[in-house]
Amino acid sequence: MRIDKFLSETGYATRTESKKIAVNGVAIKDTSVHIDPDKDIITFCGEVINYTQFVYIMMNKPDGVISSTDDGNCTTVIELLPERLQKIGLFPCGRLDKNTLGLLILTNNGPLAHNLLSPTKHVEKTYHFRCLNKLSDSDVELLCKGVDIGEKSSTRPAVVNLSSENEGDITVVEGKYHQIKRMFEAIDNKITYLERISFGGINLDITLERGSWRYLTDEETAILENH
Ligand code: URA
Repeated sequence: MRIDKFLSETGYATRTESKKIAVNGVAIKDTSVHIDPDKDIITFCGEVINYTQFVYIMMNKPDGVISSTDDGNCTTVIELLPERLQKIGLFPCGRLDKNTLGLLILTNNGPLAHNLLSPTKHVEKTYHFRCLNKLSDSDVELLCKGVDIGEKSSTRPAVVNLSSENEGDITVVEGKYHQIKRMFEAIDNKITYLERISFGGINLDITLERGSWRYLTDEETAILENH
């Protein structure tokens, strides 16, 4: 692999002018040289650059931040990452509304994200919610059975576990636009708090503060890859 590609994929691309790159301890000036990322040791200012083709990040999305990659006015989730990670093509694997909190997976692995988001895959997403009005047994039954949110067909069966009359967890296997909010509107209720706590078998790390991130563990990455 050419070292300029390596530098771009690891987020160091624009820093080459400083000529602080070394391959196996030898400073290089020509960024067209070829390296083997599995064997050669590449350093920037003496710090080893670790190479992985794909990066997987868990973020605890805070309120007021949008989960698309670019917006002129609002802060994006990408902007919450360090500068180097903003340059390696990461994007959110599924979106959360501006006022929805919690688990967001970011990756630069397009095919994997495409697979996880495919409507035929039925990947489970669990949200903690609070709603305006008390939920009756028949409301819960409706949410579980499927409700009409104005799409071609009703929502697929969901699982609801209440912790009080207007609070609980809901697990769905779809990812339609504003899905949970629309499901509650369909039963004449209104979501007042929404936080994703699980996606595709990966739980939100409760030690992650709002707005913070960490790399997925190998175990978590394997869960995503095995969907
Ligand atoms: N459902 C919603 O209504 N909003 C989200 O952000 C996620 C699921």
